Amino acid sequence: MPAQIANHMRLDGKVAVVTGGAQGVGLGIAQEFVDYGATVVIADINEATLKEAGAVLGPNVTTAVVDVTNLDQVRAMYADTIATHGRLDAVVANVGAGDSNGVQSITEKQFDFVFGVNVKGVLFTVQPAIDLMKDGGTIVIIGSTASIQPPTGMSLYGGAKAALRNMVRAWIQEVRGTGIRINVLSPGAVDTPSLRSALADASGADQVDALVTKMGEGNPLGRLARPRELGTAAVFLASEASSFITGVELFADGGMAQTG
Ligand SMILES: NC(=O)c1ccc[n+]([C@@H]2O[C@H](COP(=O)([O-])OP(=O)(O)OC[C@H]3O[C@@H](n4cnc5c(N)ncnc54)[C@H](O)[C@@H]3O)[C@@H](O)[C@H]2O)c1
Repeated sequence: MPAQIANHMRLDGKVAVVTGGAQGVGLGIAQEFVDYGATVVIADINEATLKEAGAVLGPNVTTAVVDVTNLDQVRAMYADTIATHGRLDAVVANVGAGDSNGVQSITEKQFDFVFGVNVKGVLFTVQPAIDLMKDGGTIVIIGSTASIQPPTGMSLYGGAKAALRNMVRAWIQEVRGTGIRINVLSPGAVDTPSLRSALADASGADQVDALVTKMGEGNPLGRLARPRELGTAAVFLASEASSFITGVELFADGGMAQTG
């Protein structure tokens, strides 16, 4: 009779912050963290969607209105987290956004926005968390396949996501001795409500299902990811199940980045 195998993916007793957790990928991640036993703070700039998400996620979730590009606000959010829940075990730096333009047309405003949200926002999410975490703390940064396969017109976004991946390579050395692990989790296209509404705006509501199917055919698994599948991968990286993994970029993209 084999010994009972412990479920090292469980997050019982852990407190996690998920930034951008009010919708899309972040909401899927928060849902999985709750299902795996964590208490979760969803931290987002959009108060209205944050409220709706808090109601959907239930009693093991609290909400925090915060702009991750504002270090003072992020510090205050972590202070509230510790005051309310007593500890900080895991952070998922999920906020990110893109903008599209060719190299000859990129504006300073676009540069500041894309690098501000994706790079400064993640730096400011990670920076104050390190001192608050104990041994076993985990940080998961949501990247993108654009870090190695930037689509035409998406050089800012691809560059910002590649910057994150490389900053992590230095950060894991700088936190040596703390036991804190930092990893990047990179999705390909994810079937989110905002993707669907963007497709509906561009091509009409009756085209959305066909376009989602067509987009999914671009990877070897032949479909788009569901937000919760990113959630399960984030739970893995945040849990004891990945206890000797740090500094990687894990692609949860149906194999797209390995075959493109
Ligand atoms: N959706 C995809 O297909 C896809 C693919 C690859 C990577 N990603 C990455 O996944 C992450 C989430 O993407 P998504 O599609 O769910 O995005 P989304 O736009 O649907 O949601 C982002 C959330 O972040 C919040 N937010 C935006 N700016 C903020 C700020 N400054 N401070 C705090 N909150 C802020 C928004 O209010 C929103 O709730 C991003 O890092 C994105 O780059 C998404």
